[in-house]
Amino acid sequence: MLEHFTKEIHDYCADHSVRHSDYLDRIEESTKANVYGAGMISSAYQGRLLSMLSHLVNPRRVLEIGTFTGYSALCMAEGLTADGKVISIERNKSLKPIIDQHLSWTPLGQQVEVLYGEAHLVIPQLTAAWDMVFVDAAKKQYGLYVDLIIDQLRPGGLIIADNVLWRGKVLEEDSEDDRTLAMQQFNDRMHGDERLQPFLLPIRDGIFILRKK
Ligand SMILES: C[S@@+](CC[C@H](N)C(=O)[O-])C[C@H]1O[C@@H](n2cnc3c(N)ncnc32)[C@H](O)[C@@H]1O
Repeated sequence: MLEHFTKEIHDYCADHSVRHSDYLDRIEESTKANVYGAGMISSAYQGRLLSMLSHLVNPRRVLEIGTFTGYSALCMAEGLTADGKVISIERNKSLKPIIDQHLSWTPLGQQVEVLYGEAHLVIPQLTAAWDMVFVDAAKKQYGLYVDLIIDQLRPGGLIIADNVLWRGKVLEEDSEDDRTLAMQQFNDRMHGDERLQPFLLPIRDGIFILRKK
């Protein structure tokens, strides 16, 4: 079965999931043209998954940890309630001008608020009840982020964690790379956490979907 899961099949799935979007395509192009580390952007296929999950949850409050250039925040904003909001945390203040520009390209940008600072210091200051949390910042702190938000995540709410396959390195035994070790520990811990229902999707760099029971 696995031999059928080729790059061509992956691309076929992506082609049949993604539709052209003026502002999202523009943000992707602008990120690639102007921002160092542009490969960090969620991009279209993953963005459609985030939008789909957000539409299914129909959240009032989304927390994103790791804004980068605003792409994923806007994808999740698509599924918000009319009074809903995405609160997104970013430590790199130099990204502010381009984030502001990107958010201004769609009315949905008005439903995204970006807070600048270290995520683990900002999160405890937030009092919202989260319906959905997208974890996409410091890889070694994923476990801490879950600890910090879990009590404020409503039952039925989702945690979505990106890059959990860490370019396939999670399969390495006896790895000495601290980020690989951290991701292995995170995945094992999430799988064993009885408060959460886990589902790990092999899309892009691996996306862990965790539903709070
Ligand atoms: C992978 S990128 C986010 C991509 C974005 N979510 C998207 O899908 O387009 C990670 C972002 O997290 C930010 N970041 C890394 N560590 C952080 C931390 N400790 N606190 C807040 N932001 C952090 C980085 O500056 C970077 O912009």
